[in-house]
Amino acid sequence: MRVLRQALGVGRRSALQLARFVIGRSVSFFSPRLRDRILAQWSTSDRLRYFQQFLFQSVLQVLMSEYYNPTTATDRREALKELCMGKDSGVAWANEYARRGFPDEFTDRTPIIRMLDRWLSAGKAREVHQVACSSAREVAYFAQRYPHIRFVGSDIDGAIISACQERWGQIPNISFTTLGLGELGSREKESLRCDLVFDSGGLQYLDEPTLRAFFRALLPLTQKLMFHQPLDIRFFMHKHSSSKPRGNFSWNHPYIRYLKEAGWEDVGYEVGFIEEHFWAKGVSVFARSTSIGKVGAY
Ligand SMILES: C[S@@+](CC[C@H](N)C(=O)[O-])C[C@H]1O[C@@H](n2cnc3c(N)ncnc32)[C@H](O)[C@@H]1O
Repeated sequence: MRVLRQALGVGRRSALQLARFVIGRSVSFFSPRLRDRILAQWSTSDRLRYFQQFLFQSVLQVLMSEYYNPTTATDRREALKELCMGKDSGVAWANEYARRGFPDEFTDRTPIIRMLDRWLSAGKAREVHQVACSSAREVAYFAQRYPHIRFVGSDIDGAIISACQERWGQIPNISFTTLGLGELGSREKESLRCDLVFDSGGLQYLDEPTLRAFFRALLPLTQKLMFHQPLDIRFFMHKHSSSKPRGNFSWNHPYIRYLKEAGWEDVGYEVGFIEEHFWAKGVSVFARSTSIGKVGAY
């Protein structure tokens, strides 16, 4: 490495980045199958040592630069995301969330949970849908707490949904379906037609066009939308006008602006901080639709 640095006349950090770039590009170009195998270690990558860790970071760096390139189309982004977050990795993450249980040590610093509970206990809801549910620990918790309400949990990944059915299938008032939030067809819209749609940590993984289209498509389907997402500490929803990359397929989105532009009303939010995660904040966002029933019967 030192020889390479001296030959190129660059500092340690740039030399490392250059080496990663060359190796990452070479693997991705000459052996896409090897690249896919390396990326499939996403959920356990922190346990990789030395050269394996270096190889993983090299391939990931190339993938991320393509993912966040402004010219990359949404379909391509989804395919890149699936290489890391899909199938076994998706189920491994869901298992990790399930292991933490619910409520967990962070729940009292996640304002959306209080808001949801208040709304559900008011007795107005008959049907509630959690999108991008992963382990489904949140929707399962509320299904057990409110047995007279019907709950649906969905996620883009079929393997995650099979695991949810196995884990929570014994709860009578909950069902699961595979549902991606991009390009909603009639099946997806029918499933999202309910009193309240909520999400915890899923919308950050939609790119800007997909998120804006989702907010527009959801407006006539449900009367309430609530979600909790992470944002970088220096990203302010009332100041930023467009989405910014946050790394690892996640985005900083000005959710409030996009909701208002899509026609949602009474849009508001609360910020929750977790001291241990000092580089980020959580925003719990809520909005109301008055367009409900304007498209199709409710
Ligand atoms: C951070 S996890 C949610 C964790 C969940 N709150 C829990 O505690 O188990 C985000 C989920 O979003 C899902 N996701 C990502 N992109 C999606 C999309 N386009 N449509 C639907 N779900 C998506 C992922 O598969 C993943 O399971």
